[in-house]
Amino acid sequence: MAYQVIIPAAGQGKRMEAGKNKILLEVNGLPVFIHTLNVFQKDESCKGIFLAINPEEEKALKEILDENHITKVVAFVPGGKERQYSIYNVLKHVRQEGIILVHDAARPFIDKELILPLVEAANKNGAAILAVPVKDTIKKAAGNIVAETVERTSLWAVQTPQAFRFSILMDAYKKAEQDNFLGTDDASLVERLGQEIVIVKGNYDNIKLTTPEDMYFAEAIIRKRQERL
Ligand code: CTP
Ligand code: MG
Repeated sequence: MAYQVIIPAAGQGKRMEAGKNKILLEVNGLPVFIHTLNVFQKDESCKGIFLAINPEEEKALKEILDENHITKVVAFVPGGKERQYSIYNVLKHVRQEGIILVHDAARPFIDKELILPLVEAANKNGAAILAVPVKDTIKKAAGNIVAETVERTSLWAVQTPQAFRFSILMDAYKKAEQDNFLGTDDASLVERLGQEIVIVKGNYDNIKLTTPEDMYFAEAIIRKRQERL
């Protein structure tokens, strides 16, 4: 089933402390964002990749895309100060129909097998997200004093891709702008419409590369995949 994908790549990677945008760091000899884009380049159902970028990086990114034969990027759109603003900028450029995915450039290990069920769930219900059950015990605290333990069975750690019917995602972004609401994922904006969001169970490999130690996990995930081949 056909879809378009928005890939925010316009961050600074501050928590990675690499002195540059973390999506340019290499894992197994390839920049992180190329691992990510390869999945969508190879998926025939993906009809267009829309990138949010830092304009200062545009030339470098385009060169790397060419070297790696990524041909499906149809727009490079300047990002904003926050992830949400980057995606809103891009949303104004996509074809206003069908299913839109949003997937972080910094999440290179998306399992291609999970894209179809996610897109189908969004097509049927309007909105769907990938998530995994939380493994840790989670406590609420006031400062460093425990207030309560949160019941874990109902907790999910949310990932990307997140998939939506175009009109729903656009309405959600417009409402967030009107209300000055800033969320940490796309679904949190869509929830505010009262729209039901379906969880599709993902897997624990689909990590977001956020802090320096995540780069070790990334190499380990690649090694595991190579051993399986
Ligand atoms: N992103 C973006 N525009 C922003 C901020 C983030 O397009 N203004 C993108 C990042 O490039 C990344 C994804 O959104 O692919 C998820 O964001 P995050 O992991 O927070 O990346 P950074 O914002 O780059 O990292 P940090 O918060 O540590 O600075
Ligand atoms: Mg960030």
